[in-house]
Amino acid sequence: MILVTGISGGLGGLIHHGLSAHYDLDPATGGVAAAGGATVAGGGAASAGGGAAVAGGGAASAGGGAAVAGGGAAVAGGGAAVVGGTRSGDGVTARRIDFDDPASLTDGFRDVDVLVFVSAGYAEDDVVLARHGAVADAAEAAGVRHVVYTSLARSGEPLTIAPPHRWTEARLAAAPFEVTILRNGLYAEIPAGLAALGAATAAETGVFAAALGAGRMSTVAREDLADVAVRVTAEIQHDLAAGRRSRHAGRTYELEGVETVGGDDLAEALADALNRPVRYQPIPLSAAREALTGLGLEPYQVTHTLSTFSNVIAGNLQAGESDLPALLPTPPRPVRDQIVQTLAAAGHTPATTRTR
Ligand SMILES: NC(=O)c1ccc[n+]([C@@H]2O[C@H](COP(=O)([O-])OP(=O)(O)OC[C@H]3O[C@@H](n4cnc5c(N)ncnc54)[C@H](OP(=O)(O)O)[C@@H]3O)[C@@H](O)[C@H]2O)c1
Repeated sequence: MILVTGISGGLGGLIHHGLSAHYDLDPATGGVAAAGGATVAGGGAASAGGGAAVAGGGAASAGGGAAVAGGGAAVAGGGAAVVGGTRSGDGVTARRIDFDDPASLTDGFRDVDVLVFVSAGYAEDDVVLARHGAVADAAEAAGVRHVVYTSLARSGEPLTIAPPHRWTEARLAAAPFEVTILRNGLYAEIPAGLAALGAATAAETGVFAAALGAGRMSTVAREDLADVAVRVTAEIQHDLAAGRRSRHAGRTYELEGVETVGGDDLAEALADALNRPVRYQPIPLSAAREALTGLGLEPYQVTHTLSTFSNVIAGNLQAGESDLPALLPTPPRPVRDQIVQTLAAAGHTPATTRTR
């Protein structure tokens, strides 16, 4: 059985939806068309994303969460069942999985072979470490055979959100189960959300102000990350069902975005969406800190967001090599599409003719 955690969230929802759809596709074979390593394409629920301009900031993330459903058991012919886990699980449509309540994990991980462990990073680091440690302990106790953990890509190493991810990777590596690490690049919805936040001012003044300096950041569509997670998990399940160690065991995949985005790109997208000239104006970090402080965020969200800005300015968030293209059946989704979708969701639709 496969269990996906955090299914009310954007990433967990997409992975759960994709795996459920995948196993529905071909019940005769358990749906694992990718036995040779090729064809599983996650069914990803449509997600317009939504303004996670605040890094590590759940409050600002509208997410693309698929409906919490099918937590019971989407059973596949190959013997796999896909179960969803969420803090609000009722035990019928979804299991109750609350990393802050280790007792829920004892029951929640029962009969699970493959655990898709979606990080729960929206808290202070010590809370996240306790949560993730509880997951590792419980998975070990329940006899889970393989854990797939959604981590942070190498380019995110200098960010303040990195330490809990690296700690979790090390904790999982020390456990008796097999592990696959999906090191996720930064979501495209971070710059897309920034553009959406700046849209009203840009419409009025023609200026998009952000603390990005002249830097650029590599970003990836969350749907692409979900598609990779679906493929890798299905292949792991297939390998286990065939009685062999998975081809993904012990592997760490760098799922870096293959495109970069900077302030000028966001201004250009805004110009299109607002049908007026818009120019990018870099602002100091001190001004960004002041603006963030006024948004009523948790202190750790301010820290993580400023860390993102600071690392963009320093040129630290441009990725090198990425495993993403090799693990997707089609080229990665264009970042520009994500920005356009986010602006459209905020009520700003691109004009057919640009005036800029
Ligand atoms: N790569 C990036 O750019 C980036 C950006 C933002 C976040 N992240 C990380 O990626 C994770 C998934 O992202 P997302 O887009 O799905 O975020 P999201 O839509 O905000 O969802 C957050 C998820 O955290 C889960 N969660 C929170 N507290 C939990 C707890 N105590 N026990 C179990 N689950 C808990 C929630 O699960 P339920 O509500 O279903 O219980 C929810 O699925 C985040 O939690 C964060 O660690 C990465």
